[in-house]
Amino acid sequence: MSDWDECLGAELHQLHRRGLLRSLRPVSDAAYPALTREGKRLINFSSNNYLGLAGHPRIIEAEEASAKRGAGSAASRLIIGHDEETGRLEREIAEWKGTESALLFSNGYMANLGVLSALLTPGDAVFSDQLNHASIIDGIRLSGAKKYIYRHNDPDHLEMLLKQADREGVKRKLIVTDTVFSMDGDLAPLKELAELKRRYGAALMVDEAHGGGVYGPEGEGVTHMLEVHDRVDLQMGTFSKAFGVYGAYVAGNRKWIRYLLNTSRSLIYTTGLPPAVIGGIRAALSLVREGSQLRQQLFQKSSRFREKLREAGFSIPSHSSPILPLVIGGAPETLRLSEALAEQGIHALAIRPPTVPPGTARIRFSFMANHDPADLDRCADTVIRLGESMGLVEQVG
Ligand SMILES: Cc1ncc(COP(=O)(O)O)c(C=O)c1O
Repeated sequence: MSDWDECLGAELHQLHRRGLLRSLRPVSDAAYPALTREGKRLINFSSNNYLGLAGHPRIIEAEEASAKRGAGSAASRLIIGHDEETGRLEREIAEWKGTESALLFSNGYMANLGVLSALLTPGDAVFSDQLNHASIIDGIRLSGAKKYIYRHNDPDHLEMLLKQADREGVKRKLIVTDTVFSMDGDLAPLKELAELKRRYGAALMVDEAHGGGVYGPEGEGVTHMLEVHDRVDLQMGTFSKAFGVYGAYVAGNRKWIRYLLNTSRSLIYTTGLPPAVIGGIRAALSLVREGSQLRQQLFQKSSRFREKLREAGFSIPSHSSPILPLVIGGAPETLRLSEALAEQGIHALAIRPPTVPPGTARIRFSFMANHDPADLDRCADTVIRLGESMGLVEQVG
């Protein structure tokens, strides 16, 4: 056995021992409220397909029609150019977000990586919420900028760090936050952040990955719901979650977007999105914009489920969100609960470190606008029963 084999084997064994080993499992119908795994029907609480659009016939038809223009886009857009539909989509995104311009990226991870590493230099300061997504963390790391991590959703701590950076004489400051925190479902205090940005002469970038499609009059995101979009410099979002497709965007003023087009390595050095994806996103964008009813159904279903658990004695976060975390604590017991839920027909995965901080392993339930209400009621009863039998009711919260 080589040194590599030995080390990797030992690492994997450690992960297994600590309840942190991950594996891939085949499922079918992942785009729908009930999926099938190993022949068993499971109610799907593990997708980010909040509006149920991943299975929408209008999007699938649009993808099929666009695929006739080619299976792939053949090169980086900066080399080969882009077709008309791609340009049209970027104009539609800018119009929807109320910005001068917008730029597509392959996915949200690459958008955050590319944008942050292009904007920030080692002389700059970046202020990042403690619970920001891994793609933001990685983009910051890649940039080499001086990082100031503020306590989760704590504008007072952020202000303290902004003052500290001023004392340290940093050149430029950028505040960056998720608008909806993916593993907790809570919202960033964008009004306070926008005010701090103004007072301290910083820039503000938001990640609407989980806010897009779900919040705002036309699903623009939390930024629009709270009417702070005019004070945000860059709005980033993905089409892989509530939009049900794939791909991502950054929207902002013309100069910023032009700069990113010229400097974002994850855009420049990668192939453009395939025509089918572009067509699918355009169809999804129009469904999202006219999707108030879907948003209403999503929030009604999520609230009913939360209410049932709260009445049974679970400590449930008060915010209204399509993401519900049941924080258990240790990884092994969270895994056990997830497996017990699966036995009872519920697909709700254990989210463990490093995705969440140590000691906060949780079951993350995410809701869909087209979940069947009877399925949801039955699942809530099952969660309550299992939570009680495992002695979790007082502990979770
Ligand atoms: C907040 C946040 N930003 C970015 C991403 C990455 O988006 P994508 O899945 O499109 O790469 C995710 C999803 O995992 C996310 O939760």
